[in-house]
Amino acid sequence: MLKNIETVQKYANWMAVTGVSERVQFSYGSFRQAGIELPDRRSLYFQVGRTIFLHHALDDSNVIGNILEQGMEIVRLHDMRSMPFRDNHVTLVGYCAVALCALEMVNSNGEAVLDLGSADGILSLPALKRSARKAYCIDCENYQSQLERHLQANGLPTSSMKFVKADLNRTHILDLIPGGDIGIVVANLGPHYLDTDINATRLIEGMPNVHHFVGGGYFNREGCKPDKVVKLLCRMGFKNPRYVAIDEHEPRTAFVVERK
Ligand SMILES: C[S@@+](CC[C@H](N)C(=O)[O-])C[C@H]1O[C@@H](n2cnc3c(N)ncnc32)[C@H](O)[C@@H]1O
Repeated sequence: MLKNIETVQKYANWMAVTGVSERVQFSYGSFRQAGIELPDRRSLYFQVGRTIFLHHALDDSNVIGNILEQGMEIVRLHDMRSMPFRDNHVTLVGYCAVALCALEMVNSNGEAVLDLGSADGILSLPALKRSARKAYCIDCENYQSQLERHLQANGLPTSSMKFVKADLNRTHILDLIPGGDIGIVVANLGPHYLDTDINATRLIEGMPNVHHFVGGGYFNREGCKPDKVVKLLCRMGFKNPRYVAIDEHEPRTAFVVERK
């Protein structure tokens, strides 16, 4: 039987990664070898910095106790087929890890967070657990039921998140969410969806109270760097870009900019 979280980390440290500008540590793995049997055995935890995502059915008190003792924050996922694990593929996990690290650098207490290209809300869930007031999640695919299940797994009220199925390349989303309420925007889109990251960033022009923007999905290759989006944000009055990057396995970059 699993005694403590170190045992778990032993099975997963192969994913530990060193950052370029910030140290990023993330790992994911399965508790199966430790004798814990759950229905979805593919990846039963995912740790980024001090946040650990756990399968909702994992209730081993030794594990939970040790995680909490180490000062980590637990976020429950209804299943571990969340977007970055969909294909159990290291490249997607890396994008999500740097975006989560960048988001962790922003104080979300009492804030309304807008999650552009949210999928099932893996970025906004930790913000809600850290006392964000509300998350608005937008995706062109329907993630309503997955989001609801993740909220339930974390004991969060359904009213804490609003999902809107919409195309970010069309500006009508501002009719569907209260732009003036948003303080933090997170968009893990990168250059993978044509100009969607640029078009989504332009939506911020209708949101005067946004003070932090976290962008992810980028990597260090010509045409794939976050420079164009950061420049656009700087023209909108954001400054002080800070980058979180990993340079092993696959290079991945996320950034944070702020506006007073
Ligand atoms: C890389 S995934 C990020 C998912 C999740 N936020 C994460 O960090 O793991 C990008 C998401 O953006 C959504 N997306 C892509 N193009 C979009 C568009 N034009 N409008 C709305 N959502 C879009 C995709 O459906 C996908 O769920």
